[in-house]
Amino acid sequence: MIATVRSARKLEGEITIPGDKSISHRALILGAIASGNSRARGLSAGADVKSTAACLRELGVDVDGSEISGRGMRGLRASPNRLDCGNSGTTMRLLAGLLAAQDFESELIGDESLSRRPMDRVVEPLGRMHARASWPPLRVGGKGRLEGIEYSAPVPSAQVKSAILLAGLYASGETAVLEPVKTRDHTEVMLRAMGADVQIDGTRVAVGRTERLEPIDTTVPGDFSAAAFWLVAGGLVEAADIRLLGVGVNPTRSAFADLLVSAGFRVGRVRPRLEAGEAVVDLEVTPARNLRPVRVEGGMAAEMIDELPVLAVAATQIAGTSVISGAGELRVKESDRLAAMEAGLSAMGADIVTQDDGWVINGPRRLEGAHVESAGDHRVAMALAIAALIADGKTEIEDADCVEISYPNFFDHLEYLC
Ligand code: S3P
Repeated sequence: MIATVRSARKLEGEITIPGDKSISHRALILGAIASGNSRARGLSAGADVKSTAACLRELGVDVDGSEISGRGMRGLRASPNRLDCGNSGTTMRLLAGLLAAQDFESELIGDESLSRRPMDRVVEPLGRMHARASWPPLRVGGKGRLEGIEYSAPVPSAQVKSAILLAGLYASGETAVLEPVKTRDHTEVMLRAMGADVQIDGTRVAVGRTERLEPIDTTVPGDFSAAAFWLVAGGLVEAADIRLLGVGVNPTRSAFADLLVSAGFRVGRVRPRLEAGEAVVDLEVTPARNLRPVRVEGGMAAEMIDELPVLAVAATQIAGTSVISGAGELRVKESDRLAAMEAGLSAMGADIVTQDDGWVINGPRRLEGAHVESAGDHRVAMALAIAALIADGKTEIEDADCVEISYPNFFDHLEYLC
């Protein structure tokens, strides 16, 4: 599908942000090995979370809407088929960890984009745990007891950390992951809520061998990474008054909001509450004032990795030079996001240059509608749609149906707010 997005004068209204993709994957996966039935209301309706549900069904787990019938730590059964993770890195990496510890072998496959993404980052530590794990193709499991390890992760990745912790539930002794930067902690939070022995000390997370997980009954918060698009849009469109309902603001997810505020964006947090150990608020967004350039360096990129494409859009409207570095991981996401955003924003008239691990962006530049490519990447498609709202004329985004991956009603929300 080609999405046509026109320049917007105002953005107004209230929207409920879709269920958090990361938490939804974890609710399904951990629910599957709990002792009893779990309920997770407000699961992401995106294609990635559907891939996780479909893989779990292949492994003998009943998933029906928000209900997950847990089979216990040892209740999964070998799938007769290869497990298709679609476009979802989280599905593939988290399931690789869980399935490496089972006494049957599994093979995990994905679409063209996922097949290109690095899986050695999970295979290597799982091997150190004495699991059978190889790639490509990704095959895991079918060996005896795993052994706990102390793993210093070379790249900050919540998917890798989670894979190791999931395998660690089945390993002898303690399994610990030491991260260079603290990444999203939803796995740890949920495991703890389910009764696992989880120790957190700064950037070190450890789990002990676990015989039983209690089922969960939870409401999944709205996805901060989805809300991020509207934080930027509301700040940049001339007249904006947007309220985003039920957004998860776990501190390991919401550093981007703080960065925007420090640059002059106006984001208010109201009605703070807790849902299953996760902080939730409504966010109020009004136009930004006196914008200052942004600088993302060191470990900052890891704390806002999914928000960087839309940060690039914001930087095109800020007077001065914004520098985003330390973001080499963007090259191995659903697309090479450094290249895809440079191509899209340059076509619209931005001054953006890609470096090894980030961008240098000079602003402000008046953007013009253009024909741009999503590279089949949901976050690129949505970031370019936000750029289109502040560009003159109309922008056509190729392959825009990929928003299905994390935010199926993104274009409905866009139309409603305009
Ligand atoms: C995710 C972790 C991040 C993020 C992805 C979801 C997760 O990936 O980009 O969208 O749910 O754990 P990495 O772990 O590869 O950084």
